[in-house]
This record gives sequence, C-alpha cells and structure tokens, in this order.
Amino acid sequence: MERAAILPSVNQNYLLCPSRAFSTRLHSSTRNLSPPSFASIKHSSSSVSSNGGISLTRCNAVSSNSSSTLVTELADIDWDTVGFGLKPADYMYVMKCNIDGEFSKGELQRFGNIEISPSAGVLNYGQGLFEGLKAYRKKDGNNILLFRPEENAKRMRNGAERMCMPAPTVEQFVEAVTETVLANKRWVPPPGKGSLYVRPLLMGTGAVLGLAPAPEYTFIIYVSPVGNYFKEGVAPINLIVENEFHRATPGGTGGVKTIGNYAAVLKAQSIAKAKGYSDVLYLDCIYKRYLEEVSSCNIFIVKDNVISTPEIKGTILPGITRKSMIDVARTQGFQVEERNVTVDELLEADEVFCTGTAVVVSPVGSVTYKGKRVSYGEGTFGTVSKQLYTVLTSLQMGLIEDNMKWTVNLS
Ligand code: COI
Repeated sequence: MERAAILPSVNQNYLLCPSRAFSTRLHSSTRNLSPPSFASIKHSSSSVSSNGGISLTRCNAVSSNSSSTLVTELADIDWDTVGFGLKPADYMYVMKCNIDGEFSKGELQRFGNIEISPSAGVLNYGQGLFEGLKAYRKKDGNNILLFRPEENAKRMRNGAERMCMPAPTVEQFVEAVTETVLANKRWVPPPGKGSLYVRPLLMGTGAVLGLAPAPEYTFIIYVSPVGNYFKEGVAPINLIVENEFHRATPGGTGGVKTIGNYAAVLKAQSIAKAKGYSDVLYLDCIYKRYLEEVSSCNIFIVKDNVISTPEIKGTILPGITRKSMIDVARTQGFQVEERNVTVDELLEADEVFCTGTAVVVSPVGSVTYKGKRVSYGEGTFGTVSKQLYTVLTSLQMGLIEDNMKWTVNLS
C-alpha cells in the first residue's frame, strides 16, 4: 500500500470521547492536515463514538464493526512479525515554543525528516528529552486505549525543569498524543498483535554557540507499531551486572528521561550484547552494591512473595510501568518495598523481572555478576511475575475493567 494513497479526505473531523477523562474535538479541513484547532477538553465519564474522522483508502480491512457504521482499517503490513523497530506511520505532531517559553498551537504533518540548525542546542549540548507510551486497540477493533498519558506529560515537565527547557502543559501533551494516535489509527496493531508506540520528543532547536539553554524548542510526537522489545519475546532475558560503567550519578540527570542517559549506556550494552546477554543491569556508582536499573527498564526482585525494587532517588528513571506495577501488586495483596536492593539479594531472589513501557514486563532468566551466573525459573515467567503481568497487560489492553482509572479511551 502506497502511503500517498491514504491521504485524509477533506473535512476531517475527529471526535474522541475518552471514557475516563478527555474529550477533544479536533477540526482540520485540508488535504494536508492543516493545523487542527482544539475546541475543548472536558471531563466525561461516558464513551461516545464517532467515525474517527479520517477517510482512508481501504487497504487491508481486517476488522470491522458490523453493528455500526464504524470501520476499522489497518495498514497493510505483516502484523505477526512486528518487532521493536521503526515502521514509519503517516503523521507526526509538531509544536514549537518561542523564546518567551510559549508553545504555539501544534499541527499534524506528514511523517518525515525535520530541518534543524547545526547549532541547535539539542545537537551541541544534548538539551533533549523523550517519552514513551503505548496505545492498544481494543477487541472491538475501533476503540483505542492510551495508558496513563498524563503521567508521561508530568514526567516530561519534571525533566524539562531539570534540563532548563519549557515544556507543554499536561493538557497540551495529552491532546497532542490523542490527536497523533487518531491520525495514525490504522497503525495501531490488531488486538493481541502489539501496540502503537508513541514517542514524544522535546528538544532545544534554537541556535546556540556558547553553553546556554537554547532560545527555541520543538515538541514532536511520532509513532510506530511495535511488538516485543527484546528479541527473546516474552521469554526470559539474560542480564549481566555491570561493574565498571555507570548509568547515573547522584545529582546528575539519571532520574529524568534525557536523551544523553541513553547514549551513555550504549557502550556497556554493546559489549554485553556481543557476549550474548540481553542487556545490562547497572549498580550504584558509589558503593557498586545497590541495584539501579537496566538500560531501558526498571528491575524488581521477588523473595518469599515480597516484591522489592530500587527506590526512586534521582539516579533511576521513575518508570510509569514501574509505578503501575507497584500499585497492581499491592492491590493483588503483595507486600512491595521500594528501598535499596543489594546485588546479593538479587542473586538470592526467587524471581526477577523488569518493567518499562517498551519492555512491558519481562521475566529475567539469569543474571551474571563477576562471572557467576544465577538462573531463575524454568524458562518462563515466575508465578508472581506472571500474575502481575497478566493483570497489568489485561488492564492496558482493556480486557478487564479498569478499576484504577488509568486508561483513556479514544473512539
Ligand atoms: C520506553 O520504555 O519507552 C523507553 O523509553 C525505553 C527506550 C530505550 C525504548
């Protein structure tokens, strides 16, 4: 299917009425998706459907709702082989912020390259943040669920404060995510085949030469359908505990989602992967004794049915899946401790698992520390992690009632 063939028809008109919180009517009226205007955001407790707005050439209609006029159309790709690589979708969202720190109204543009000054703050001094969240297609084929988008908005705002950047408001952020997901609705995988990964970026795009905050910022959201993050799929991963390289230092930026944190782990990760490990588990840089996190996710251990995870103290990312997992575990009756967790405890744990937006929940099958390999489980999830994984993912995919009020329904 040629991407040019799915240009939206005239008179796009999105109506989305989330079941929990957000109802946004977006109007846009040209073939090129001119800037939509946000008429309202209101709180609502009922879900109202619409036709989703974009008229697309049917390419692979694999799901439809025969009881209504709604028709869900999917991009023509092999949904069984989607991994965690970029599959460019149709549109990206772009919003600029001027020198006064005010964001203009954002707009949807065709997904594509952007132009940037060689002197941009993000390129020269790493002034950039990103976020990651997911949208799931519900079983009915038409409703899409976002998982806790306000949490990403708040985390981006915290990170922006640390990085001396202005940031979109929570409302602007959630509207932008909503609009981007709906514009790319055909890229949200069918139920059970993965999710649409949403990647918001905030970066200093104004030109600087001397070290200073950039004079202008750009907020972009792009999306890609994704499947499992690790090549192991949902099979257990094998971690190596890193003793030399560190991800973060006290007082540094390890607790915010700045782009540099991820460049900093590439070296250790590459070495580990070359040796056959799935990823790296970092220790604190002072005592080299306490667990921090894996390159792209948080870590949990289970011992005698008590769940423990490193506490948030500035050097690990406050993961939204981590936080959700803690709440899910407590509602399931488990004792959960957020505290310093030693590498010795890790080696003696009954179960170990990782959480993250991209990773979701991944069981750890083995950990190697100073040449000693310790294995967990029998090639699958442990009992506790399986239970928590099932509850969390059922909630994210809309398979069980969302008593936590975490999901936002876009229809
Ligand atoms: C996410 O889980 O969304 C992340 O940002 C991790 C990234 C390295 C894929």
